[in-house]
Amino acid sequence: MCGIVGYIGKKKAIDILLNSLKRLEYRGYDSSGIAIYCEDEKKLDIIKKSGKIKDLVQEIERRNPSSSHIGIAHTRWATHGEPNDINAHPHFDCNKKIALVHNGIIENYRTIKSFLLERGHKFKSDTDTEVIVHLIEEFYKGDILESVKKSLKMIEGTYGILVLSSYEPNTIIAARKGSPLIIGKAEDQMIAASDASAIVSLTNQILYMQDGDIARLTKDDVEIFNLETDRITDKEFEQIDITLSQIEKGGYNHFMEKEIFEQPEALQNTFRGRVDIVNGTFRLNGIKDKFRDLLNAERIIITACGTSWHASLIGKYLIEKFTQIPVEVDYASEFRYRNPIITPKTVVILVSQSGETADTLAALRESKNKGATTIGICNVVGSTIARETDCGIYTHVGPEIGVASTKAFTAQVLVFFMLSVALGRKKMLTFEDGINLIKNVEIIPDKINEILNDKDRISKIDKIVEKIYNKTNFLYLGRGINYPVALEGALKLKEISYIHAEGYPAAEMKHGPIALIDENMPALFISLKDSIYEKIINNIKEIKARKGYVIAIANKGDREIEKIVDDVIHIPDTIEELSPLLAVIPLQLIAYKTAVKKGLDVDMPRNLAKSVTVE
Ligand code: G6P
Repeated sequence: MCGIVGYIGKKKAIDILLNSLKRLEYRGYDSSGIAIYCEDEKKLDIIKKSGKIKDLVQEIERRNPSSSHIGIAHTRWATHGEPNDINAHPHFDCNKKIALVHNGIIENYRTIKSFLLERGHKFKSDTDTEVIVHLIEEFYKGDILESVKKSLKMIEGTYGILVLSSYEPNTIIAARKGSPLIIGKAEDQMIAASDASAIVSLTNQILYMQDGDIARLTKDDVEIFNLETDRITDKEFEQIDITLSQIEKGGYNHFMEKEIFEQPEALQNTFRGRVDIVNGTFRLNGIKDKFRDLLNAERIIITACGTSWHASLIGKYLIEKFTQIPVEVDYASEFRYRNPIITPKTVVILVSQSGETADTLAALRESKNKGATTIGICNVVGSTIARETDCGIYTHVGPEIGVASTKAFTAQVLVFFMLSVALGRKKMLTFEDGINLIKNVEIIPDKINEILNDKDRISKIDKIVEKIYNKTNFLYLGRGINYPVALEGALKLKEISYIHAEGYPAAEMKHGPIALIDENMPALFISLKDSIYEKIINNIKEIKARKGYVIAIANKGDREIEKIVDDVIHIPDTIEELSPLLAVIPLQLIAYKTAVKKGLDVDMPRNLAKSVTVE
C-alpha cells in the first residue's frame, strides 16, 4: 500500500511531487523516489532512495537534476523485495524510456517475468512491479497508452500505476484496479495521486478513477477509457472540501497527538445534524434506503481490520443490547476465505477508516456476491468501500494521518451507538430511553475535553509512563463493552512503542496470562462502576496477590479503588454504553507518551502503514 503521485503543468514538477509525497508518506515509508522528464536533455531521470522522504530530498539536492514540468513519484511499503535503493520505485524499462510507479501487488509476476526474460529483458530489482514496465516496453509500437492497455490485460492482481515515457513527454498514463487513484485538475495543471490529501494543496477539483479505468493525462485534459470495453468513459470532476489545515499538524508535535486532542470536536462532527430530538432517535440519512433491511435482518455481520475491528466488537455489544438482533464480528481477512453463511436476510457492515483496506474491500465484494445488503462505516469520503457498499454512514472526523488510529476509532464507536439507538427505537427502546441516550451523547465531547485538559490527570499519566516505558510486556484487561477497549489499548502500545502488549477479558486472565504476572509485568484494568465492577475488583486482587503493578482506569468518584491498585486514572462518569469513548482516551495518551519518551517515530512506526491496500 504505497503512495503514488504524478504531476504535469506550469510549476516545477519536483517541488509539487515532493510536497505531495510528504502527504502520502503515511501509506508507507520504506523508500521513495521520483522520475522526471528533463526538458534540456530530452530524457527521463530517476532519483530514488531507501528510507524516508527526507532521505530522498537530500539525494535530490545532491544530484541537482535539471528542470522539469512533468514527473511521477512513489513512497513505498515493501511487499516484494527488501526496502533498499534498487527496489525503490520508480522502475525503468531496459532502455530507460519508460518509468513507472505502482501501488498494489502483481500476483502473476513470476510467469510474466519468465516470458520477458525469454525475450531478453534485463531486470534490476526483486519487485513484482518491474515486470509491468518491461511489459509496456515489450508491447510498445508507437502509442504508449495502447502498450499500457495491452500490458494490463495480462496482469493479475491489484494496481494503481502511473507511467511516464520519453516517447510522449507531455503525457502521464494512470490506471487502477483495486488500489485507489484520484485525478485533480487546476488551471494548466493535472495531478494524479493515491488520495486527496496529496492533491488538495493544488486543487479541490477531483475525479475518482474506478477499477478498470485507464487515463491519459496532459496538462489541460484527461481522457478515461474502460480497459475491458476500450470505450471512453465520461466522468465529471467534483468539488471536495478537505482543507490544507485539516491535514497539517496545527501546532502539535505529531499527527497522533493532534488527532487525540481533536476528538471532542471530531465527535461533535460525527453526530452533528443526526440528532432527532423530536422522535428521541438519530437520523442516519445515508442508510435510510436500507434501514428496513437492517431492522428485519436475521443476522448482522460486521467485518473490519485492526482498530476498526475493535470498534466493531463494541458495535456488536450495542446492537445486540438495543435490538436483540444477533451480530457476529469477523476479521475481514478471515471472513473472505471461510465461505461465510449469508442469506437474503443477512446485513453485512464493513468498517474502515480509509475505506481502502484490501481485506475489507474483498469481504465487501464477497458479501455482495452472495446477495447481502452491505453498509459501510467509513471516514474517507468517496473511498472505494464507501462507494461500493449499498449505503453507509460517514464518521466525518476529517483526515486521520497518524498511523495509529485514534479519532477514527471513537467516531466508529459513536456511529455504532447512533445506529443501535436508531434501530432500538423501532424495537425495544422507549422515547424516554432515546432522549436519555441522546442527552448522554451530547455531553461526551465535554467529558473528553475534561480528560485531555486536566493537568493533574496528564501529570499522573506522565508518571505512569516513567514507570512503564522500559518494560517489555504489558497486559490490558477489561470486561463487557470495555474488553475491546483493552484490545485497543494494547494495540496502540504495540504499534507505536514496540512494547509487547496483550488485551484480555479480565476474567480470562486466570486461565493462562496470570502465569506471566510478576513485578515486571504492568497490568492496566478498565474498572468502571458498571454492571460487572465487583467482578473486576476480584480480578485486580488476584493480580495484586501476585505482586503485579496495577493501573486502574476508574470513575471520578471511586476512591476505594485507590486502596487496592498502584495508580489510578480517573475519568468522568457516563452511561455504560458510552464508557469506551472515555476509557480509551487515557490509553491513547499512555501509548503516545510512551513512544515519545522512547524517542520513537510516533506517526510512522516501523513496518506499519496507515492504509493497507494489500492482502
Ligand atoms: C492498518 C492501520 C490501522 C487500521 C487498520 C484498518 O493496519 O495501521 O490503524 O486500524 O489498517 O484500517 P481501516 O482504514 O480499514 O480502518
